[in-house]
Amino acid sequence: MSWGKEFVELSKSQHDRNSFDCGEQELNAFIKTQAAKHMQAGISRTMVLPCVQPLFNQKYAICAFYSVAASSISRETLPVQLAKRLPRYPIPVFLLAQLAVHKEYHGSGLGKVSLIRALKYLWEVNHHMRAYAIVVDCLTNSAQAFYTKFGFEALCEHNGRIRMFLSMNTVEQLFTQ
Ligand SMILES: CC(C)(COP(=O)(O)OP(=O)(O)OC[C@H]1O[C@@H](n2cnc3c(N)ncnc32)[C@H](O)[C@@H]1OP(=O)(O)O)[C@@H](O)C(=O)NCCC(=O)NCCS
Repeated sequence: MSWGKEFVELSKSQHDRNSFDCGEQELNAFIKTQAAKHMQAGISRTMVLPCVQPLFNQKYAICAFYSVAASSISRETLPVQLAKRLPRYPIPVFLLAQLAVHKEYHGSGLGKVSLIRALKYLWEVNHHMRAYAIVVDCLTNSAQAFYTKFGFEALCEHNGRIRMFLSMNTVEQLFTQ
C-alpha cells in the first residue's frame, strides 16, 4: 500500500492504530494506547501519515507518525559557547517526542520525509511561539545514528537516553534557503 500526501492529526475513528508496527515495542504501544490520550490531556500532538487505501474496517493504516510537545532544557546542558548567550532560567524547546515509520516502509525514504515534515511543522509553530531548539530523546543507538545523519547533536543524558538537539536557527536556514 502507498502512503498519502499529508500528515494529519491522529483520529481514533479514522486511523487504524492497532496495525501499526515499527519494530519498537515502546513506540507501537505509544501510538496504540497513549497518543490519543495525551492529545486529549493537552500535553502533546500526534500527526500521522495515513495509507491511501482504507482497510476492511474502513479505517486507514498508519504509515508513519510523529508526536511533538512543548518542553524546556536548562542552559547548563548546552555547550558553553551557546549557553553563555542565554538566560539562567529554563530555555523553551520543542520536544520531538516520537517519530516512527511502519516497518513495511523502512528504508524507502519515509523516515527522512517524516523528519522533514516534523521539522517544518515545528518551524511553522516557531513563527508564533519561539523555542530555542528541537530536542529528541533517542530510544536506541540506531535512532541516535538516524538523527545524527540529519544534523542533531548530542546534548546530555536524560532518563537513561541520549538527548540530542538541533537549533531553531539551523531549522530556519533549512526552510528559508
Ligand atoms: C529510524 C526510522 C524512522 C528510519 O526510517 P526509514 O524510513 O527506514 O529511513 P529512510 O529510508 O528515510 O532513511 C533516510 C536516510 O537515513 C538513513 N538511515 C535510516 N535509518 C538509519 C539509522 N538507524 N541510522 C543511520 N542512518 C539511518 C538511511 O540510510 C537514509 O540515508 P540516505 O538518505 O543517505 O539514503 C525507522 O527505522 C523507524 O521507525 N525505526 C523504529 C522507531 C525509531 O527508532 N524511531 C526513532 C525515534 S525514537
